[in-house]
Amino acid sequence: MALEGKHALITGSSRGIGRGIALALAESGVKIAVHYFQNERAANETLEQVRKRGSDGFVVQADVTRPDQITEMFRKVKTEFGKLDILVSNARPEASRFFQPPLDITLEQWDTAFDSQAKAFLVGVREALPLMSDGGRIFAITYAEGSRTGGLQPWVGMGSAKAALESLVRYFAVAVANRGITVNAISPGWTEDSVLNTLPEQVQQLIRDWHTRGWTPARRLGTPADVGDVVVLFCSEKARWITGQVIYADGGASLMNPEVPPEIQIG
Ligand SMILES: NC(=O)c1ccc[n+]([C@@H]2O[C@H](COP(=O)([O-])OP(=O)(O)OC[C@H]3O[C@@H](n4cnc5c(N)ncnc54)[C@H](OP(=O)(O)O)[C@@H]3O)[C@@H](O)[C@H]2O)c1
Repeated sequence: MALEGKHALITGSSRGIGRGIALALAESGVKIAVHYFQNERAANETLEQVRKRGSDGFVVQADVTRPDQITEMFRKVKTEFGKLDILVSNARPEASRFFQPPLDITLEQWDTAFDSQAKAFLVGVREALPLMSDGGRIFAITYAEGSRTGGLQPWVGMGSAKAALESLVRYFAVAVANRGITVNAISPGWTEDSVLNTLPEQVQQLIRDWHTRGWTPARRLGTPADVGDVVVLFCSEKARWITGQVIYADGGASLMNPEVPPEIQIG
């Protein structure tokens, strides 16, 4: 298998996109540290699925808004794996902890957004690097639409935090380029089996309809497996020359022009 002998930590891999990344890497022979916050059962299910794919790993708990817990998580990675080849910073707190428009967002919610994204990445990458050999791979899972737009008002905290995260990706990319370690952000479009499925049914349907109508030219939403395969691709030795980029993995949704109805654009 292409990535046999490699070891990865994926934050927030108990479910959603993080689980999809864990399983795609496991299929390529990577050993997986499955991280979760509160949902231990889901994390164990991910690990079970990792094993079904012929790989192995362990489960680790941490609140990524707490730097001390991030440090503890890496201590466990060191004990279990002794090294790390791939870090994916993917975890994101529940919407209730940050989802509030700019005029109402509390400073606590603002801090939750920034602590879980930018600060968690800053601390996580600095903990990961001593465990990483030259040629390692570091990923931040972002939502680049939220970083550059302002329409979805209650996203202000997370959108600003993701913008800071993308900026950190560029700075780290330069800092570790001489070791052959690449640092990239992956920006999925709307994805099934993720936070989407926790939204009110009517909201889910509006989003699905909008994308299948053509906003995503592939005419479907993404899946965690779609995003997982992109991470596997970038773990390849052949991706060694791409660093510091925000990679849109969205079936083309980011190519659409917001001023023109999708039906006219896709013809
Ligand atoms: N879903 C989408 O359509 C979409 C689109 C673009 C970008 N993204 C990005 O993709 C990533 C994953 O999104 P998702 O929708 O797949 O997530 P999700 O299904 O909501 O799962 C969130 C994950 O983060 C963990 N988590 C929650 N709070 C945490 C905390 N305080 N500390 C540590 N871990 C915590 C959860 O652990 P427990 O299971 O233990 O609670 C879970 O594993 C996020 O960074 C998100 O911004 C998602």
